[in-house]
Amino acid sequence: MIIQKTTGLKGTITVPGDKSISHRAVMFGSISDGITEVTNFLQGADCLATIDCFQKMGIEITNTKERILIHGKGLQGLQKPASALDTGNSGTTTRLLSGILAGQSFESSLSGDDSLNSRPMGRVITPLSLMGADITSVRENGCAPLLIRPSKLHGIHYRSKVASAQVKSSILLAGLYADGITKVTEPVLSRNHTELMLKGFGAKVTSVLETDGISATASIAPFPKLEGQKIIVPGDISSAAYFIAAGLLVPNSEILIQNVGINATRAGIIKVCQDMGGDITFLNKKTAGGEPTVDLLVRTSPLHGTIIEGNIIPTLIDEIPMIAVLAAFAEGTTIIKDAAELKVKETDRIETVAVNLKAMGADITPTEDGMIIEGTGTLHGAKIQSFLDHRIAMAFSIAGLAAERETEILESQCVDVSYPTFYKTLNQLQK
Ligand code: S3P
Repeated sequence: MIIQKTTGLKGTITVPGDKSISHRAVMFGSISDGITEVTNFLQGADCLATIDCFQKMGIEITNTKERILIHGKGLQGLQKPASALDTGNSGTTTRLLSGILAGQSFESSLSGDDSLNSRPMGRVITPLSLMGADITSVRENGCAPLLIRPSKLHGIHYRSKVASAQVKSSILLAGLYADGITKVTEPVLSRNHTELMLKGFGAKVTSVLETDGISATASIAPFPKLEGQKIIVPGDISSAAYFIAAGLLVPNSEILIQNVGINATRAGIIKVCQDMGGDITFLNKKTAGGEPTVDLLVRTSPLHGTIIEGNIIPTLIDEIPMIAVLAAFAEGTTIIKDAAELKVKETDRIETVAVNLKAMGADITPTEDGMIIEGTGTLHGAKIQSFLDHRIAMAFSIAGLAAERETEILESQCVDVSYPTFYKTLNQLQK
């Protein structure tokens, strides 16, 4: 994809449905009784991989552009798949599904693409094994392919070292099949879509902040009666992030992004942009299924550096590539720390952000748990390697809109993972 420097992005857009919520709707609908109807489902490769996995386990799922219909068969209704389940590029599919599969009476295996099969799965293998699961890394390297054999699960109280919604959700889903209560304490509350949505399906889930006001414990009771739901998926704030940044960076812009999910466990990007001087207005606040949405009005703004650390990190972890680009165009220093989780995303995003920002002339120093960026106000176009990471491709496409000369994004089709219509929406704003 070739991106030219531009001015005056104007218009009203919507972004596709939230990726995390779309995955969960298919998973929870499949193990509930009756029909689950999902509207504004994200038709990205990751979520389509989740649909495919459940279809391979005998769940009838119809997918028209307007809605997804899932004919759930209840907690015990999944069937042994004929072959390994292919989770593609999707960490959420792999880790959450591991929790569900640990509780089944059949053997199964999970495998994905090269990126997925090199990401750490020990973080779910360890707690699921403590629950009694028989789950192994086939190559004994702590990564997928994973082999999961039937076994009896029991509830545990797991204290996770990482604030990871994928880990928390995997354990809670296994907890549906355990004898006794399952609890997960995490150092900082991570995205809570599982807790909110599973409650809607009828599970007995609780979530409390600990007395320190930072760490949080979620708990779940086994074998609830789950019933099909109507789920309206809010627009994905992680996808909106690219157009928030475009609106702030590109001169003379004004973009209205409608129906964006702003769950507090996800909305750190907005606070950071406002802290950097970004002009963002909330309009039309609504709530559905416990998930709040707003329309975001974004206008071009002079930005300055900031410090991003501590508890806010889990609420914006996927947006850090985009924030790093904003920081490079801002005045002054931006420090990002406590974000070592970046190293185990679709790529090592400390490295892939640094390589590409340097190629565009930015002053960036990668660190063990983040990066330091000296804003220079301008960048120049470059050949950008996406490394097949959707968020790298999109963040640097936005950088290209504000950089001098021309930017080329290599293997830009990887945006299909979470945002197949990304370049179409970008074009729409340039007309
Ligand atoms: C996700 C959780 C986050 C996030 C990922 C989606 C989820 O990962 O980065 O894109 O849907 O639960 P971690 O749980 O590994 O932090």
